[in-house]
Amino acid sequence: MKKIAVSILSSLYDEETTIKKIDETDVDYIHVDVMDNTFVLGSTPKREHLQNSIKPLDVHLMVSRPFEYILEFASLNAKTISIHVELEDDLNALLDYIKFLKIDCGLAINPETPVEKLKPYLEKLDEVLIMLVTPGKGGQAMNEEAVSKIEELIEIREKRKLKFKIAVDGGVNDKTVSRVASADIIISGSYIAMSEEYQARIDTLREKAK
Ligand code: DX5
Ligand code: ZN
Repeated sequence: MKKIAVSILSSLYDEETTIKKIDETDVDYIHVDVMDNTFVLGSTPKREHLQNSIKPLDVHLMVSRPFEYILEFASLNAKTISIHVELEDDLNALLDYIKFLKIDCGLAINPETPVEKLKPYLEKLDEVLIMLVTPGKGGQAMNEEAVSKIEELIEIREKRKLKFKIAVDGGVNDKTVSRVASADIIISGSYIAMSEEYQARIDTLREKAK
């Protein structure tokens, strides 16, 4: 079954209200964009808001030193924690650490980074997070070239009999969702959270992604 996640990066409401409104919907996950002002500019949603949510968290670490953030989010209701494949760190050690904490591990890949970079890690991944925009802010247009990574990864997954889920992040709305319908997890931010009608927009995405 395809899953939908709401990114809370850009919202019409304050963070607490946004999370409450998401809890009232049937969406599968809250997508949490974590920024450290180094890897990208921006800040992190507040722990006291996230810990009250009933939704599992799909955590996207856009930070240059993920280690310290992993434990922090593991203590919240994180289903998956993804780190960026572009980091110079020992990615195997970080992914193993996430798994050790009994959380699904993922790698996020920026639009300009080739799928080739993911190949050494695919066996141990639960999720590949394909970025369809440059990390940092909501409301950007979907990068059409990056969309082709979905099919590329589906092919590799079949060939190598792997199990990772494919998530897409950035520029997903009612007009673009059909382009990414073959992904397993569809993340949408401003299209849902910059509106007053969260559930109706989630329904539209589900319908159009069928
Ligand atoms: C981009 C973030 C995305 C973003 C999605 O830095 O990783 O999660 O918030 O927002 P929309 O759907 O508005 O592109
Ligand atoms: Zn994200």
